[in-house]
Amino acid sequence: MKQSIKKISLVALMSIGVGLVSFTTLPTAIPTTTLDLGDDTPVWDVLSQLGKIKMNQVDPNVAGVSAQRGADLIFRGYSAEQDGEGKTKLQSPHFKCTACHNTKQEVRDLADINAQDRLEYAIEQDLPFLQGSTFHGIVNRATFYNDDYQKKYNGVEGIRNSFNDIRAAIRFCATECAQGRALEDWEVESILAYFWTKELLVKDLKLKEDEKQKINQSLKDEKNVARAIHLMEDHYLRSSPAHFSEQDMEYKPLTEGQLNDKKSLENGKQIYERGCLHCHGEQKYSFFNLDDSELSFKQLLKKTKKNDRSSIYKITRHGTYSYAGKKAYMPQYPLEKMSDAQLQDLRVYIENKALGN
Ligand code: HEC
Ligand code: HEC
Repeated sequence: MKQSIKKISLVALMSIGVGLVSFTTLPTAIPTTTLDLGDDTPVWDVLSQLGKIKMNQVDPNVAGVSAQRGADLIFRGYSAEQDGEGKTKLQSPHFKCTACHNTKQEVRDLADINAQDRLEYAIEQDLPFLQGSTFHGIVNRATFYNDDYQKKYNGVEGIRNSFNDIRAAIRFCATECAQGRALEDWEVESILAYFWTKELLVKDLKLKEDEKQKINQSLKDEKNVARAIHLMEDHYLRSSPAHFSEQDMEYKPLTEGQLNDKKSLENGKQIYERGCLHCHGEQKYSFFNLDDSELSFKQLLKKTKKNDRSSIYKITRHGTYSYAGKKAYMPQYPLEKMSDAQLQDLRVYIENKALGN
């Protein structure tokens, strides 16, 4: 008995030996990793290979979770039930998530969020121009409901946790922003699973060649990994900044020059069509209907001249009040989502159209 074991282990040792020999004859060193910086390599894969803990991961222990169900909840407002039998209740009677959030990349340079670039990119890519941040790259973010949102919702249950917990942010938005029912665990995980289909890829970061080389080197030799992580993270924002305008603009007569400014007019038209009409067109998300008729523009101008809460200056910066679950409300545009100059462009467009120009 003993004898035969010895024999076997001897054979085993010999074959390992053969294996080693053939390995050492390979021309290059054995790589410690197979990951390379390909265009389609997920950013998170590179970062975790460099030693960063992967955040925002889907919990594998919840039944009934899928990215498809997440997509259905986001785009349609319902999905198949957890056990596959029938459909869930509508998440919100007022909104789909896509009323306020894009799901595609919405700025050209992910490291530089700037309202005018965002508008130009929206025109180029034919995207809506909305108050919420895109779901593209959201799993690559570390904090949510940033800056002034924390102040706005101060004291509201769930806002504190939403800051660094993506699940809490999803739940918070479902009830506070979408004004709908609370999400079940498997629904939150499914939405998260959908978010992962929108994670950033290496090509999204527009790394320079020498940066790529440095990162690749760190992946191979596991040296300078902190530098490599920084190089990656410098190319995208890990949070969506949100600052509300401090001072309200007011109705003042426009000068001839302002009224006839072609750039302003075009900007304003795009904001109206990609922003305001996204919700107010064809009564999609609001009973206050707007279209391309002179009447719509006259109405908006009249509200603006009165300078009350429904002036375009006020409504854009403050939105309307929300009563949890009770009714649709309009979220405000932070400066990162619409600049003061753009708001003035919108006014210029509205006034021109109201004058029948
Ligand atoms: C009525 C508008 C509206 C609707 C509908 C809406 N959201 Fe939001 N959501 C917002 C706004 C405004 C914010 C503020 C932070 C931001 O996106 O920059 C936000 C924030 C979030 C955040 C945190 C994003 C960040 O980077 O700070 C998540 C996650 C989120 N929403 C998920 C959802 C999901 C999922 C749905 C659908 C169930 C949904 N939202 C529906 C307006 C809305
Ligand atoms: C995400 C959807 C959404 C977007 C985008 C949006 N709104 Fe609204 N808005 C609403 C909702 C919802 C209300 C609340 C009224 C209602 O229940 O129909 C509202 C209310 C208003 C009101 C008040 C109406 C009244 O009763 O006096 C005005 C004015 C208005 N919006 C103008 C605008 C303008 C101008 C834009 C573009 C800069 C815009 N909205 C973009 C959803 C939106």
